Amino acid sequence: MILRMNLGSDSYDIKIEQGILNKLNDEIKDVYSKKRVFIITDSNVGPIYLRKVKEALYDFETLDVTVKAGEESKSFDTYKMVLEKLLDMDIKRNELLIALGGGVVGDLTGFVASTIFRGNPFVQIPTSLLAQMDSSIGGKTGIDFYNRKNIIGAFKQPLKVIIDPDTLNTLPQAEFNNGMGELIKHGCIGNAKLFNMLKSKPKINEEIIYESLLVKKRVVEIDPFDQNERMYLNFGHTFGHVIELKNHLRHGEAVAVGMLYAIQFGIDLGITDKSCYDELKKILVSYDLPTNHGDYKDLLKETVHDKKNLAGMLSFVFIKEIGTVLKKEFKESELINYECKN
Ligand SMILES: NC(=O)c1ccc[n+]([C@@H]2O[C@H](COP(=O)([O-])OP(=O)(O)OC[C@H]3O[C@@H](n4cnc5c(N)ncnc54)[C@H](O)[C@@H]3O)[C@@H](O)[C@H]2O)c1
Ligand SMILES: [Zn+2]
Repeated sequence: MILRMNLGSDSYDIKIEQGILNKLNDEIKDVYSKKRVFIITDSNVGPIYLRKVKEALYDFETLDVTVKAGEESKSFDTYKMVLEKLLDMDIKRNELLIALGGGVVGDLTGFVASTIFRGNPFVQIPTSLLAQMDSSIGGKTGIDFYNRKNIIGAFKQPLKVIIDPDTLNTLPQAEFNNGMGELIKHGCIGNAKLFNMLKSKPKINEEIIYESLLVKKRVVEIDPFDQNERMYLNFGHTFGHVIELKNHLRHGEAVAVGMLYAIQFGIDLGITDKSCYDELKKILVSYDLPTNHGDYKDLLKETVHDKKNLAGMLSFVFIKEIGTVLKKEFKESELINYECKN
């Protein structure tokens, strides 16, 4: 299946196909005519897929850099190490970088690609569920710094995104669950068909990834630089960020619970259809995602510290029903003194 990201001269294809890793030679030739490619991967993904990927790229000279698996690789130290290795290999302007791994490798490689020689081309080959259904498209790249996530970065669209759902077979269960939280979120905010598909807990296939990326594609095309509509992707995140820190949950798990809070809040405001709560909870339970939570009112005060709080105004994302999203602005003081009127 092919999805086209329409962003003027930055447009690109997203190809989703089981077994496409074996056809990489043609897929890369389609967008790149030089000889050398530089693959960046991590210490979990490399041992499983690097050899296969290099063999598949038989017409190319392949060089590679492996970083340590995990979020700590989105750092200045690793960024510097990757640049040093690439320069040691005498990388030239316009030579291609390939990100082979999860969102960490994707964000890091994209940032390297956006800065080396003021911008080399790069291709994403996402291998985690989160990266396949979300982070590999949209062009946000970057690293963490000063205890703040994604604080240094650039917008840099890939030349192509190549997705092989077969790679999910080796993904650890905890990472799978992490991606599921965000996948269900995409169903909630923009795709009732996707939400309904997930009810029977199918194996993640091309169609599910396609439907999820469709939701992200629509908002990225309208708002490539994250000024407005892209914030709909934040559904469940304002509460989610508070409990992610407090309860030491993984991001996707915190988003799962955060969505339940946002639905509670929306129901009290008369925005959200009451049936959404049970519908969502049922799906979360079926995927073993956490659903226990307290009262959203107890968390409202803490949400004002969210990084999306702009000059004392905070936008909350709500759903009206499954698949329909909207946002509402609150003054910081309104949230601190919030009292339910119902
Ligand atoms: N750029 C964006 O728009 C965007 C959007 C959402 C999240 N992100 C970023 O994405 C990152 C999280 O991504 P993630 O959840 O993929 O994390 P990750 O890259 O750390 O991958 C999770 C773990 O799974 C392993 N892994 C990946 N694919 C595997 C496979 N096929 N088989 C076995 N192991 C595999 C990785 O080595 C890692 O240990 C965060 O840094 C987040 O900020 C970016
Ligand atoms: Zn998220």
